[in-house]
Amino acid sequence: MCGIVGYIGPREAYPIIIEGLKRLEYRGYDSAGIALFDGNDLKVSKTKGKVADLEERSDKEITKNGSVGIGHTRWATHGVPNDVNSHPHISNSGDLVIIHNGIIENYESLKKELISRGYTFKSDTDTEVLINLIEDVKKQEKVKLGKAVQIALNQVIGAYAIAVFDKNKPEEVVIARLGSPLAVGIGEDEFFIASDASPFLEYTKDAIYLEDEEMAIIRFHKGIKIRKIKDDSLVDPYIQKLQINLEQIEKGGFDHFMLKEIHEQPKAITDTYRGRLLRKEAIIKMAGVEDNMKKFLNADRIIIVACGTSWHAGLVAEYIFEDLARVPVEVEYASEFRYRNPVITEKDVLIAISQSGETADTLAAIKLAKSKGAFVFGVCNVVGSSIARETDAGAYTHAGPEIGVASTKAFTTQITVLTLMALRLARAKGTISSSDFRHHLLELEMIPKKVEESLKSDAHIQAISDIYKDASNFLYLGRGYNFPVALEGALKLKEISYIHAEGYPAAEMKHGPIALIDENMPIVVIATKKGHYEKVVSNIQEIKSRKGKIIGIVTEGDVQVKELADHVIEVPETLESLTPLLTTIPLQLLSYHIAVMLGKNVDQPRNLAKSVTVE
Ligand code: M6R
Repeated sequence: MCGIVGYIGPREAYPIIIEGLKRLEYRGYDSAGIALFDGNDLKVSKTKGKVADLEERSDKEITKNGSVGIGHTRWATHGVPNDVNSHPHISNSGDLVIIHNGIIENYESLKKELISRGYTFKSDTDTEVLINLIEDVKKQEKVKLGKAVQIALNQVIGAYAIAVFDKNKPEEVVIARLGSPLAVGIGEDEFFIASDASPFLEYTKDAIYLEDEEMAIIRFHKGIKIRKIKDDSLVDPYIQKLQINLEQIEKGGFDHFMLKEIHEQPKAITDTYRGRLLRKEAIIKMAGVEDNMKKFLNADRIIIVACGTSWHAGLVAEYIFEDLARVPVEVEYASEFRYRNPVITEKDVLIAISQSGETADTLAAIKLAKSKGAFVFGVCNVVGSSIARETDAGAYTHAGPEIGVASTKAFTTQITVLTLMALRLARAKGTISSSDFRHHLLELEMIPKKVEESLKSDAHIQAISDIYKDASNFLYLGRGYNFPVALEGALKLKEISYIHAEGYPAAEMKHGPIALIDENMPIVVIATKKGHYEKVVSNIQEIKSRKGKIIGIVTEGDVQVKELADHVIEVPETLESLTPLLTTIPLQLLSYHIAVMLGKNVDQPRNLAKSVTVE
């Protein structure tokens, strides 16, 4: 996820773009850049770091006048965050300039083709490939910029929101969207371009939101023309009157980042498997795994290290790897692992999981394992983070920035990456049949839709939250794949509502926690159809006979638990190994609503930090 801003009109573009980028920093903040046409030439300034670093740099580097410009704040997906990989990117001739939010999946083959035609590349980005593809089309086909963008985009696979202009024709900016948002603010003979409306709300409330597969040519004094990228047909612009304030927009209309991120999960999971899960071909493509397949195949065992929510994702992975790929897995708290003189050999593969990629304990565990010769693989969200750099290979989750301190979409996307890895390894080892493999791919591909379904229980969960918000303790129970989900549900509630909560394997209840149960104790039991259902139903009966209040997370259409429980929340049916991706959703919403009802600071809970870079 990145933020893009553009301006074309009579005002100075620089301050509008810089202020706009600051408002979009929630979309990414590892580097920033700006391109302006100053009346004579193109001026570009870009840097690793925040928009504040860009301001400092552009002060020294460029004259800041000009009434056409585009700017970018980056969340790296291809290429580590550094000055060269920052946007804008310029074409080989130096004429065309682009900013891009999204991922061009087929950029490697396009790049090869362009290199064979003499093009050279300075950065590792997919975006620099796109701008040279546009330039190439423009030259070969002898067409105007708008047409060249259209032809080039028809060759591209992936997602994008782009803004492009030609320094020889700066009164025209071309924009396009597929899968990444793009809005145009319409002023008095001026236009604002942005990933959301926050950069232009103070100038205009009239906005056009580009739909997927649409592009627009914006001309100073001449207006805007929108076309379909595929068939070139003209689209009537629909101008909306915005009735929102800045704060609401940055959170996409949600009250908190956490809620926004919970709702982003269908898209985040899709972004995670995009280009990796190729169902029709029945393959999984993950370069980091492929290139190191021997290490995985020869491993005596896999050790997973992580902290907090990432550790819970690791526990889910333990079930998946052992179940599908038949390899022994140990899951360790990074903080314990690093201090207990663990036995590690060169035949171990260590997987480190971290959203931020900066967690100090996880980083130290990696260094320890590396020093003993283990092969270390990272699963991180933040591109170019310390853990991503320190590991031998890895796979990004591509969840986009997670701002809320309570991890939500990081968890489900980590599980998605780890599931893809386990399936790929199982295929290589021959521990999964081809039909079972295909079935898993199909079911995994359907998960985003099923997460969407699960999110529809929001109002029902809110009502349940209202009943139990004043409880002093909660118990969360689950078995098998859903035991880690019980732990994660309890952690979510603890960290944002400050209510004491414990997660347990359901069968362990009788070894202690059962003593806590009385009519004041709410117990969340994950009792999906696949996964020791009958056993969990017996546990529910034990709770009921002790008058505990039961909130069951059940498979759609469940009858048995419905009869016993005080409340049930349904999730769609899926494979047992994929249930955590669905059963987690109601638990995230339950903790969110309880915390809001208790008036807690959901996005920044007391004593916590998003990234724990100290021991
Ligand atoms: O960035 P990481 O995934 O390494 O962070 C690990 C934990 O600090 C993190 O998951 C923490 O537990 C969250 N607050 C959980 O919501």
